[in-house]
Amino acid sequence: NNKRKPFVAGNWKMNGNRSLVESFVASLDSDVAQHVDVVICPPAVLLSSFNSASFSLGAQDVSAQDNGAHTGDMSVDMFKEAGCEYIIVGHSERREDHGESNALIADKAKKVLAGKLTPIVCVGEPLSVREAGNVESYIAEQLDALITALSVDELAKCVIAYEPIWAIGTGKTASPEQAQDVHRFIREYFAKVDEALANGLRILYGGSVKPDNAKTLFAQADVDGGLIGGASLKVEDFISICQAAN
Ligand code: G3P
Repeated sequence: NNKRKPFVAGNWKMNGNRSLVESFVASLDSDVAQHVDVVICPPAVLLSSFNSASFSLGAQDVSAQDNGAHTGDMSVDMFKEAGCEYIIVGHSERREDHGESNALIADKAKKVLAGKLTPIVCVGEPLSVREAGNVESYIAEQLDALITALSVDELAKCVIAYEPIWAIGTGKTASPEQAQDVHRFIREYFAKVDEALANGLRILYGGSVKPDNAKTLFAQADVDGGLIGGASLKVEDFISICQAAN
């Protein structure tokens, strides 16, 4: 289905500074983002340094709570005011470093939607699960929490990112076939909930996407773009990945 608009998001993780922001604002012009939704997710403290109409901003995580006594956390309202349109939830590094559960991640997605922002919900299996041949049941469990918590209308407003943990920051990319297999599985899983929802849903691939492998990954039928870590820190690499999605 080529009606889905390609989507490329850069997740800077805990990297970057003001001079990197400046190089992105200077180099990433609206030509790049003409046929692709382009999003940068910098560390929260850098959000206010961005001033560009050429791409959108996203946050890397958010609290599931309303404003209040939650030291160190940040709310959907705050990210909205800071200019974010998207918020990543359920990144494997959050799941691992902060023990985030599928249920908490579904709560966060719901909160993001209630604030009229778009959640980018990450799923993906560790190597042990792949080696044991249990990828689909593992992903299904991650999706179930979301499907239980969200209405069809809400699900339709999400972006899903498939990030196999063994491919994140390792230089080991999933082959285009491996990516497509899981993306197709995810789409078919949502089709059991609602066919139109599944057809419209954008599913991104993340895990060592680079300028030289982006094109073949994005050419897969159910891969609608990418969530880019390391290569989103180099403006030329990020631009060529955006162009590959065009
Ligand atoms: O969220 C993006 C991600 O986890 C992939 O990171 O460095 O493998 O592109 P990287």
